[in-house]
Amino acid sequence: MKELTIAMPKGRIFEEAVVMLKQAGYKLPPEFDDSRKLIIEVPEENLRFILAKPMDVPTYVEHGVADLGIAGKDVMLEEERDVYELLDLHISHCYLAVAGLPNTTMNEVAPRIATKYPNVASSYFREQGEQVEIIKLNGSIEIAPIIGLTDRIVDIVSTGQTLKDNGLVEYERIVDITSRLIVNPVSYRIQHERIQEMVDRLGQVISVKPVK
Ligand code: PRP
Repeated sequence: MKELTIAMPKGRIFEEAVVMLKQAGYKLPPEFDDSRKLIIEVPEENLRFILAKPMDVPTYVEHGVADLGIAGKDVMLEEERDVYELLDLHISHCYLAVAGLPNTTMNEVAPRIATKYPNVASSYFREQGEQVEIIKLNGSIEIAPIIGLTDRIVDIVSTGQTLKDNGLVEYERIVDITSRLIVNPVSYRIQHERIQEMVDRLGQVISVKPVK
């Protein structure tokens, strides 16, 4: 039987996802706790893990080099890849919000928005009927309004600490985010039984927490 390959997001989601897989009864080796390896084979479980940048997880799954993946809804909305979402894992709760310096209004002519999520931000402001210029940054988005690069940011808020520590306030909440189990459509057809077994096992350990 061919092994299943799962693309895991390095960083914040990783630890929670590993805990969940372990709770679901998958025996994962110590490399999961402390390693810089990018591919981890777990022959005992007939599984193979690819440790990816979170934004790249749906890309690996769409191209079929990973059968399954764990990806934040933020990444799914931004990337719009041709994959199926099988489960809301209810981990890594956060939300996307518009934030900026307190007591400021957006520039009336071509307000500027900094974000790691250009597609989500463009469609949000389009729906609001506002014309904005999106400036794509790759991290530390909160800097942008402080140094006068943009009027607002669109970014992830989890605890709210980063906004607070940088003197920014939230203006609008765009969408709540949790992590999802995603699958390549062809893998889902061909390896249906094994994948469904994983869905069932993970489904049993999901704990739905109230949204903050
Ligand atoms: C994310 C996000 C915010 C922060 C929010 O950044 O972009 O900056 O976390 O979390 P908080 O509300 O709990 O403070 P991340 O740490 O992933 O790094 P980045 O700035 O490189 O995107």
